[in-house]
Amino acid sequence: MGKVIVALDPPEGVNPLDWVKQRYTSLKDLAEGFKVGLPLTLRVGLGKLNEVFRDYDGLLIADLKLADIGDIMVNVLEGLSKTKVNGVIAHAFVGYEDGVGKLALKSKELGIKLITVVSMSHKGSLEFMDKHLNELVELSIKAGVWGVVAPATRPDVVKRVRALAGDKLKILTPGVGFQGAPPGVGICAGADYEIVGRAITSAADPIKAFHDIVLKQEEAIKECVS
Ligand code: XMP
Repeated sequence: MGKVIVALDPPEGVNPLDWVKQRYTSLKDLAEGFKVGLPLTLRVGLGKLNEVFRDYDGLLIADLKLADIGDIMVNVLEGLSKTKVNGVIAHAFVGYEDGVGKLALKSKELGIKLITVVSMSHKGSLEFMDKHLNELVELSIKAGVWGVVAPATRPDVVKRVRALAGDKLKILTPGVGFQGAPPGVGICAGADYEIVGRAITSAADPIKAFHDIVLKQEEAIKECVS
């Protein structure tokens, strides 16, 4: 239903494990997948987090924004391969040789979808990353990654990524809802999925919030394809 990956980032002051369990249970049959990040993993630990998802067969992305030398990123991937995680986010800017290239080979061997960041929603992305957008996308294609992250808050960037990548890459777009991008804008610009966090997870009724987002997404998609 819809093209929504839910970002699970518990706010301060909640029990993170209970918070995640509740939202996972409510949304597991609705979402295309989940994204878990460093703050959550550090708060609850990978073992406990893995327990929450033990029966899940959907897309479970660890948003670790890896940016190390290849050998170390491969170590991280090997650790993740013992869990239910089946997707991982790494930075493309570390380069191909002994970096993303090495990680991409290991990710294929382990059956973990590698997703690289080529642009981000915050303003600082313009300082370095966006100046190298074409190269970051080309590197990602060369490495044969599964997908890339680009911001729904800047649909022009998503369009550029799609034009460069053709159908060689999935595009995942965060920034929908809380950061201001309306649902559907990423998909209309060429993305495959929209990543939505707080607009769903902070709502009093996350299931209703999920359905509202999907409805708006579907309406926007109808408009942009017609
Ligand atoms: P919200 O609550 O803003 O959550 O819907 C968004 C989620 O996506 C992540 N995020 C990004 N990740 N590039 C990324 O790789 C970005 O431009 C970007 N913007 C937001 C954020 O970590 C959160 O989990």
